[in-house]
Amino acid sequence: MKNILVTGGAGFIGSNFLNYILTKRDDVNIVNLDKLTYAGNLENLSSIEKKKNYTFVKGDITNRELLDYIFTKYSIKHVINFAAESHVDRSILGSEVFTVSNVLGTNVLLEAAKNHQVERFVQISTDEVYGSLGPTGLFTENTPLSPNSPYSASKTAADMLAMAFNHTYGLPVVITRCSNNYGPYQFPEKLIPLMIINAMHDKKLPVYGDGLNVRDWIHVTDHNRAAELVWENGKVGEVYNIGASQEMTNIEIIKLIIKALGKTEALIEYVKDRPGHDKRYAIDSTKIERELGWKPEHKFEEAIQSTIEWYLNNKPWWGRIISGEYQDYYKKQYLS
Ligand code: NAD
Ligand code: TYD
Repeated sequence: MKNILVTGGAGFIGSNFLNYILTKRDDVNIVNLDKLTYAGNLENLSSIEKKKNYTFVKGDITNRELLDYIFTKYSIKHVINFAAESHVDRSILGSEVFTVSNVLGTNVLLEAAKNHQVERFVQISTDEVYGSLGPTGLFTENTPLSPNSPYSASKTAADMLAMAFNHTYGLPVVITRCSNNYGPYQFPEKLIPLMIINAMHDKKLPVYGDGLNVRDWIHVTDHNRAAELVWENGKVGEVYNIGASQEMTNIEIIKLIIKALGKTEALIEYVKDRPGHDKRYAIDSTKIERELGWKPEHKFEEAIQSTIEWYLNNKPWWGRIISGEYQDYYKKQYLS
C-alpha cells in the first residue's frame, strides 16, 4: 500500500483526483487534508467518503503540528499538493491569503515532507507561472518564469521553494504545470461554470475586455491521469507541462455555452478588463507525452457539452454554493 497525503482534496481538481484514483485503485491509503475554505466542498466526495482507505482531516497546510501528527499517524510517504487559493480575481481583490496558503503553506508542507523522509512530493502548479504569450508560441518547461498576478506569483514562489528543497535537501520533488481545467465540481466563480449558471438564469454574461484572451482548455480527468503518471513515473527534480492543445478565446466559449443552452447573445455584457489580464496561455506537452506516454482523451467540443449537462443535472450542488458567501464575492467583483 502507498500512504499518500493529498492536500486540497475537497476543491475542484483535488476532488476529481480523489474520485478518480479511489475508484480505480485499491493499493493506496489516502489522507485528504483540506481547510474547507469557500472553495472546499465535501459533497464532491460523497461517492468515496466511506472507503476504508480514505480519511478526511479538516486543517490547514500551514499547521506544522497537525502535519507532524498526520505524517506520523498515517506513515505518509507520498504528498500530492493541490491545496491553494486558486482564483486570479480574488488574488486581485486581496493577495495576502495567497501568500499564506500558497507560499508559506507549501513551505511548511515541504519541511514536514523532508522531516518525514517522503519518497515523492508532487507540487501541482499551473501554466500561469510562465506569464503571458503573444499570438504565437507555446509554453515549454524551459520558458522563463514570469508571473503577472498575485495568484501566479504565489504559485511561482511555491514552485521555486519545491525545487530548492530538491536541490538542497534531495527531497524527491516533481512539479506539474497544467493549463485551464474544466469539468464537474468547478466552483461557479470560474469562467465556464459562471457562464453556464448565469445563462441558465438569463443573467448577464460578464466578458472582461474584448473577450479575445485565449486559454488552453483541458478536461479535469485528463489532468488527473497526468498527475497520477507524474506522481508514479515522473523523474525527480523535473517539471511536466500538461495541456490538451485546445486554445479558445473567452468569447468563443461564451457563445458556445449560449448556443448549447438555447439562449440569446444579448446576454453578453462587455465589462471592464481584469487588471494585468494575461492575453494568451498555450501549452507544449510534448515532454509528458514522450517521456510518460500521456495523451489527453477528451476533445473540447464533446467534453464541454457533457460539462454543461453536468451543471444542468446538478443544480442542488451549485444552488447551495451560489446562495451563500459567493453572493458577497459576486457583488464585490461585478456590481461595485
Ligand atoms: P480550488 O480553489 O477549487 O480548490 C482548492 C482547495 O484547497 C479547496 O478545497 C480549499 O479548501 C483548499 N485549501 C485552500 N487553502 C488551503 C490551506 N491553507 N490548507 C488546506 N487546504 C486549503 O482549486 P482547484 O481549481 O481545484 O486547483 C487545485 C490546484 O491546481 C491549485 O494548486 C491550483 O493552483 C492548481 N491548478 C488549477 C488549475 C485550474 O484550472 N483550476 C489549472 C492548473 C493548476
Ligand atoms: P478564469 O476561469 O478565472 O481562469 P484564469 O484567469 O486562471 O485563466 O478565467 C478564464 C478567462 O476568462 C480569463 O481570461 C478571464 C476571463 N473571464 C471573463 O471574461 N469573465 C469572467 O466573469 C471570468 C470569471 C473570467
